[in-house]
Amino acid sequence: MKKTFFLFAAAAALAACHPSTVLTSPDGRNTLAFDPATMTYAVLRDGDTLVRPSALGIAAREVSFSGFRFGTVRRTSADREWSQPWGENKHLRDHYREMTVELHNIEDRIGLTLRFRAYDDGVAWRYELDAPDSLTVTDELTEFRFADEAATLSWSIPGNFETYELQYRELPVAEVADANTPFTFRTARGIYGSIHEAALYDWPEMVLRRDGRGVLKADLAPLPDGIKAYIPGRFTTPWRTIQLGDKAVDLIHSSLILNLNEPSKIADTSWLKPQKYVGVWWGMHLGTQVWTMGPRHGATTENALRHIDFAAANDIQGVLFEGWNRGWENWGGSQHFDYAEPYADFDLERIAAYAREKGVELWMHAETGGNIPEFEEQMERAFARYAELGVHTLKTGYAGGFKGGYLHHSQYGVQHYQRVVETAARYGIMLDVHEPIKETGIRRTWPNMMTREGARGMEWNAWSEGNSAEYLCTLPFVRLLSGPMDYTPGIFDLDYSRAKADPGRIEWNGPNGHCRIKTTLARQIANWVIIYSPLQMAADLIENYEGHPAFRFFRDFDADCDRSEALQGEIGDYIVLARRAGDRWFLGAGTNGETRTLAQPLSFLDDGVAYTATIYADAPDSGENPEAYRIEKRTVTSADTLEITMAARGGQAVTFIPEKQRYETF
Ligand code: NOJ
Ligand code: CA
Repeated sequence: MKKTFFLFAAAAALAACHPSTVLTSPDGRNTLAFDPATMTYAVLRDGDTLVRPSALGIAAREVSFSGFRFGTVRRTSADREWSQPWGENKHLRDHYREMTVELHNIEDRIGLTLRFRAYDDGVAWRYELDAPDSLTVTDELTEFRFADEAATLSWSIPGNFETYELQYRELPVAEVADANTPFTFRTARGIYGSIHEAALYDWPEMVLRRDGRGVLKADLAPLPDGIKAYIPGRFTTPWRTIQLGDKAVDLIHSSLILNLNEPSKIADTSWLKPQKYVGVWWGMHLGTQVWTMGPRHGATTENALRHIDFAAANDIQGVLFEGWNRGWENWGGSQHFDYAEPYADFDLERIAAYAREKGVELWMHAETGGNIPEFEEQMERAFARYAELGVHTLKTGYAGGFKGGYLHHSQYGVQHYQRVVETAARYGIMLDVHEPIKETGIRRTWPNMMTREGARGMEWNAWSEGNSAEYLCTLPFVRLLSGPMDYTPGIFDLDYSRAKADPGRIEWNGPNGHCRIKTTLARQIANWVIIYSPLQMAADLIENYEGHPAFRFFRDFDADCDRSEALQGEIGDYIVLARRAGDRWFLGAGTNGETRTLAQPLSFLDDGVAYTATIYADAPDSGENPEAYRIEKRTVTSADTLEITMAARGGQAVTFIPEKQRYETF
């Protein structure tokens, strides 16, 4: 029978807290208060309660505690700067105060250390267990009791242990039955926050679920036998995090999740290189091409060479081919793939040699269909083969239920995804994971884990009702808080009814009358900036870019970002972001279903530098004709203000290139 250890009643008020167990952030605004008498925590901002006393704890089969003895409380603080090989911001500051509370149960010989941290951009805590034997975890008891659930608005996807490819709901917290994280909220007083987790290893993912008592609490993805996790006696859980800010865009600036992860375990990171890429991909989602060999096969030698030429001519570093390897006939069925053997019409050796000759990176793609045992069995051999071919990037996929009834986000899934990361690191391979486990900042420790999907990406526009402009204005404040996303932006042929009219095309994912991307062209361009990914795709068929004046943006764009500034925005309404790469800046702005004009000071630009701003904007008629756009060039400095006018579902993208660099005329 399940016994509970660390079962903590949630009743104490902050006033009851032992003064030695209250922790405040360096700026004094965020307070985490732990009450050892009731074993609850509370969170306050500027002295106002944000999270009422809420339980902490874990339940396991082997042990039952009648109570802990309150032991030593230790305090420390840190203020250090660190750098990462790539990221939205390469240089970061890790500035926090920490409190550890040691608890002991002598009878059961179990120790529990609660490690709390308070940062200026949020709070976090984790459980460090020390039991004599391994534990069978049956529950995590962490609660999130918002001070005012009815008046706190939230944005989240439903809690689901198999997929994150779900629509957002904007709901008062009181109406949330279950939610995945990041779980973003705004209180009546205008405090913005987001609940998530950091450093998820060997433990299932946490969703928030309202329990029988009506309390929003952690719910861990189970294994097929209903157990949440099997762990050794000495174990440290992921961090539970709450990011906090005064404005919605403050959440985007927060580096809390990365700061809570360990430094890189990859000593030489010189081979980790952000890239722009194109690929044989969108045609399959439109149904005009297929993954399997035959007359409509996408990944043919001829097509591959054409893509490599296009990449070389357009300053694009990588090319991806899906459907190059044998086994796609089994996708959705027995899910048997060969991860090293190409189809007969894909001359892998020749393509790899041609890519090398042209200075273009060849990517591999491995769709598992959820057949984890077979993928793991072939992994070493396949990765060795990729490395031999000079491949440094792999896109993986998990479109299909895991064999054995395991859930994607369970402890089994988390461990599998991690095994792939570590194996890939040994072969010098960067990863782009689709149908992934959510990002919890492990890219700091394993920087070959470049990007992942983990939300509804572009593909949904090909075979479903699609992604709305409001969805795209929500993404930066929810999913993207966790880390980079391979959304695969940049469809220029917005009305693809021509492709849909092709009589031979395959409707591989059910009937669909939708033939239009739900944004303007300028917004598609802006998404290359807004949706950060160190591996950034131009996702359309390359023929739709050939000779298109607006594709100039992607040629000028640099995926190797140094710094990001979230300039203005409101969740679900609009967003303006700027990113610097070298001495160039790129700005992306987007709106929801409303037309919008924003004044954006260019004070983020370097002082004293004259830039050529090339503005890719909605045209006056973009509301009715979303492919309409205008390109304007002008000289600007950091003293100027840009007026950003966007059509409904529109956007704007700008490149700022120092004038001395502008050797080519547009
Ligand atoms: C789903 C992925 O998100 C998509 O990018 C890929 O093309 C298909 N699975 C096939 O692997
Ligand atoms: Ca997907």
